[in-house]
Amino acid sequence: MRVLHVCSELFPLLKTGGLADVAGALPPALAKLGCDGRVLVPGFPAFMQGIKDTQLVVELPNKFGASSVRLLQGKISNTEIEAYIIDAPGLFDRLGNPYSDTNNQPYPDNYRRFALLGWVAANLATGLDSTWTPQVVHGHDWHAGLAAAYIKVAEMHTGRKLAGTILTVHNLAYQGLFPAHVFGELELPDYFFNVNGLEFFGQVSFLKAGLYFSDKLTTVSPTYAHEIQGIEQGCGLSGLLGAKSQDLVGILNGVDPAVWNPEIDPIIASKFSSRSMVGKAKCKTALQEYTGLKVQNEFPLFTIVSRLTEQKGLHLVVDGILDIINRGGQIAILGSGETAIENAFEALAIKYPESVAVQLGYDENHAHRLVAGSDVIMVPSRFEPCGLTQLYGMIYGTLPLVHKVGGLADTVTDCSLENLADETATGFVFENFDVAGFNSAARRAFALFARKTEWKKVQKFAMLQDLSWDAAAQKYFDLYQQVIV
Ligand code: ADP
Ligand code: GLC
Repeated sequence: MRVLHVCSELFPLLKTGGLADVAGALPPALAKLGCDGRVLVPGFPAFMQGIKDTQLVVELPNKFGASSVRLLQGKISNTEIEAYIIDAPGLFDRLGNPYSDTNNQPYPDNYRRFALLGWVAANLATGLDSTWTPQVVHGHDWHAGLAAAYIKVAEMHTGRKLAGTILTVHNLAYQGLFPAHVFGELELPDYFFNVNGLEFFGQVSFLKAGLYFSDKLTTVSPTYAHEIQGIEQGCGLSGLLGAKSQDLVGILNGVDPAVWNPEIDPIIASKFSSRSMVGKAKCKTALQEYTGLKVQNEFPLFTIVSRLTEQKGLHLVVDGILDIINRGGQIAILGSGETAIENAFEALAIKYPESVAVQLGYDENHAHRLVAGSDVIMVPSRFEPCGLTQLYGMIYGTLPLVHKVGGLADTVTDCSLENLADETATGFVFENFDVAGFNSAARRAFALFARKTEWKKVQKFAMLQDLSWDAAAQKYFDLYQQVIV
């Protein structure tokens, strides 16, 4: 089965969030099931440098404002992932991240940049590479949204189905919205700019194009699949999602064991496993020394590894942190994002240097140090499609403290007395999205930490959860079979 993944990030080459982790882990997991997968990515500098032995597939016409467009093929360095890369320097060879410039301003021509991505995906489905034609085109997020629309147009011309189309929503809040006047440049039939199409309250929505024109939709947890069909989390798209609910399924993300695994992790101070936790204690001490926190093991060390955005609910931590500090707890934070949240955390670190450590910016190695050396990882998100850091925490015996929402609700079981008795508990879950709710979960963490035997039991159970990609890969594989051409 030939499947083309269309995405704009892929770990280890280019990452702004969990989408990259998924794009890097899902194709190899599917390969184990016999799926012949390839990825299609824009020619961002990190991809141009990190894809090896590239060969020209075909020169393409100058589309969407680019003065030179070539389709290359190669392999992602240090992986077995086969990739197509769109070499269009005018659109993709820029400083900054895939979506925004170095001042964090979205590129004004994003609609052209990601139209090209979708257009090339559709053309691969019509036979652009005569040696490999996908039977399924699997887009990820709004960046790939137009692929399904262009495939629909090509199918209308040829009068036959060209490829099954799937769109995975990693985050419904990012929609790829552009003013109506750009529609004329997209080379789509006029009537596609319609409520039954990609029009969204007078604007062009790349995400809606993907949702409307794809055969099947997935999102990254069952609870989020349900939540986005409601007004509160539907981001204006709940009607469409509800209408397509038969074709919408939630499939939980997994963890890449080659990247997140305390038994082999080359970055952490000492390796450990559920059978031998001595190394974890060493990681905690090493982390405290590294960050300048007081070295102690009487109280829990909490961590946050996160984009610092409204989504992540971090104002609850800012408002609840004194309670944690007053109980003797410590917090080590790694993140980057909104200035107000960055400033609030930095001020706390200056005021309480033995209790609060903050590193701003993106740092893969420090993320591993924090996940390995802490006792509790906090993910108090307002909404969370899946969330990966709570899963990484569990694998490293760092118990997650989460808001009961989206994928967090699906992956973490609270340490209530009954769950402790049933031996199903893996972390601390709060329902009310307010400081009192957050603090009560933090208090449960302190209470359990003081009961060492119980703490170790929960830790072990969390570490033994099956969080591999195997189950998810099988579900995607089954879905592909339903749409395959
Ligand atoms: P989201 O995709 O919404 O940001 P996820 O929990 O799915 O949330 O994925 C976040 C990913 O990004 C994880 O792999 C996490 O370790 C990583 N990450 C987030 N912030 C940072 C940072 N400042 N430095 C390094 N890694 C980070
Ligand atoms: C998005 C979501 C996150 C999810 C990730 C990977 O960035 O915010 O919850 O884990 O995609 O699917």
